Amino acid sequence: MTTQLITSIVELRTLLDNHRTIGESVGFVPTMGFLHDGHGSLMRAARATNDVVVASIFVNPLQFAANEDLGSYPRDIEHDTDLARTNGVRYLFVPDVAEMYPLDRVLTTVSVAELSARWDGASRPTHFAGVATVVTKLFNIVGPCHSYFGQKDFQQLAIIRQMVADLSIPVEVVGCPIIRENDGLAMSSRNVYLSPEDRAAATVLRKALDAGEAAIRDGEADPSAVADTIARVVEAEPRARLDYVAVVDPATLETPEQIEAETRLLIAAYLGQTRLIDNSAALRLVDQE
Ligand code: PAJ
Repeated sequence: MTTQLITSIVELRTLLDNHRTIGESVGFVPTMGFLHDGHGSLMRAARATNDVVVASIFVNPLQFAANEDLGSYPRDIEHDTDLARTNGVRYLFVPDVAEMYPLDRVLTTVSVAELSARWDGASRPTHFAGVATVVTKLFNIVGPCHSYFGQKDFQQLAIIRQMVADLSIPVEVVGCPIIRENDGLAMSSRNVYLSPEDRAAATVLRKALDAGEAAIRDGEADPSAVADTIARVVEAEPRARLDYVAVVDPATLETPEQIEAETRLLIAAYLGQTRLIDNSAALRLVDQE
């Protein structure tokens, strides 16, 4: 199978309409490129249940704040095309900024209240409206029946699910597991920014989450005690600076009074200038004796 690179919205719509006319289903994987196996896993999931897989690469200016890495976000379209082909992508949609935002100003945005304000949204106040807006546009362009998102960006996934339900967008959102390097670091396009020393120290995120999971497994029911356990592991690594740690209900992303069932542990930390995020599920086993 070959992967066709498409830069025009009209051309992509025409091609996909042809597939839909003959009854074929379209699965969609939105990305910002510099692809790794985390993205690959979403493409494979899409290929497993859809006739045609579309992936997009668009470094979306709306979701970057002025002080963030829009200008330096890594790019490698040749490698990305290879990875997409290997993972069964039929159309790789790579629009430029003028194709996606043809007018000088964007006046219409989509924002998901509450869910966008906390955790990552507290550190990046305009980020999730930028994500929700571009994902809405991409859904309108591609018209997929399924779209695939990684649990790596757990808050983003929750926001997209809420948006799709609130706006009755006709797509099924599929959340996929986090793909990690052998030493536990979650794959991310931004890992390339890390110096060798910071790359080695970055395993502290996974280790901190492990400590939080273990505390919950051992019966700790107080979210702030679990958060302290996680924070202490990060603080013991001199190269890391904790941004936030959160112990939350996986659906509402709110911290419960008491940990009772499944909980999500969220973490963000800086290694040098690079901000990394990770998360994991923790299950509290209630003692039956
Ligand atoms: P990007 O960071 O390129 O990620 C694209 C998709 O890949 C997201 O759904 C993300 O959660 C998933 N992903 C990234 N690393 C992963 C990993 N290690 N394991 C599993 N999935 C992983 O997220 C974005 O782009 C953008 O915000 C986007 C949704 C494309 C909107 O611009």
